Amino acid sequence: IKKIAVFTSGGDSPGMNAAIRSVVRACAFMKLECVAIYRGYQGMIDGDFKPVNARSVNNIINKGGTVLKSARCEEFRTPEGRKKAHEQLVKAGIDAFVVIGGNGSFAGAQLFNEEFDFPVMGIPGTIDNDIIGTSYTIGFDTAINTVVEVIDKIRDTASSHNRLFFIEVMGRDVGHIALNAGVGAGAEEILIPEQNLGLERLLDSLKRSKKSGKSSSIVIVAEGDKTGKNVFELKEYVEEHLPIYDVRVSVLGHMQRGGNPTCFDRVLASRMGVKAVEALIEGKSNYMVGIRDTKLVLVPIKEAISAHTAIDEELIRVSDIMTI
Ligand code: F6P
Repeated sequence: IKKIAVFTSGGDSPGMNAAIRSVVRACAFMKLECVAIYRGYQGMIDGDFKPVNARSVNNIINKGGTVLKSARCEEFRTPEGRKKAHEQLVKAGIDAFVVIGGNGSFAGAQLFNEEFDFPVMGIPGTIDNDIIGTSYTIGFDTAINTVVEVIDKIRDTASSHNRLFFIEVMGRDVGHIALNAGVGAGAEEILIPEQNLGLERLLDSLKRSKKSGKSSSIVIVAEGDKTGKNVFELKEYVEEHLPIYDVRVSVLGHMQRGGNPTCFDRVLASRMGVKAVEALIEGKSNYMVGIRDTKLVLVPIKEAISAHTAIDEELIRVSDIMTI
């Protein structure tokens, strides 16, 4: 392997830049050429490539988003799109690529590897932390810290007015952001897709908390929760069935994806980038770099995209105990 391409794909996440920097510098250290691909798989199809060296990635470790831009690319889902992408890589003399992204991006890489026997390596970059085989994805730590910071602020106004807040957080089909940020911010209730306890339980819990002397409450709602109601409908439901509360709603949205990465995400990204390049040099392909018990591991991409990471049952229990 002489020339490696690196790109970011799917939803951006804080720490992606640190991962790009790591791949580029590991290539420079190991005397390999490195090419940046802009706009993910779309840029691969369009041949949007640029040779990069160690100095090209100065001053990006601290930045949120991705300097290489990102895209969710429909064309790459088609055999014609992937053929075009392959032709572009061959034309540019690229021997392997490192994709920094989530489930969808890995599924594309896996297919591409099977079709063209092209060496690929994945680095998990998503705020959702939903990729099986790694305890952490790059961006999750920053996102939960952002969410906790915002909930702390909402708590100030909630308690000043004795209000109940429903706060919707991201996470797609999983509740990792909701559960972790909810416990970290001391939420009263956390509604996650993995555990639908029903609306009765929510009302009971809110009643109990009022009775026990709490004047305000924070309920975190994962965007994928299974109550069948969105945060605005939940507000109406509670107002109707439990008119003791003055209820407000806050949808945090894309602010959760932005911001400077935490030190944890920067270190994780730096480690994973080096590992990805080393693995390609060793002739490995079709793996995702993961972290388990503080050690880096290589997980077959097939396995990484086979399911979502299970929710932490122990943390659910802690959350229940904390809301006494
Ligand atoms: O996967 C990251 C994520 O932010 C999810 O939490 C969310 O469901 C989705 O992306 C939003 O996607 P978009 O930015 O395309 O609206």
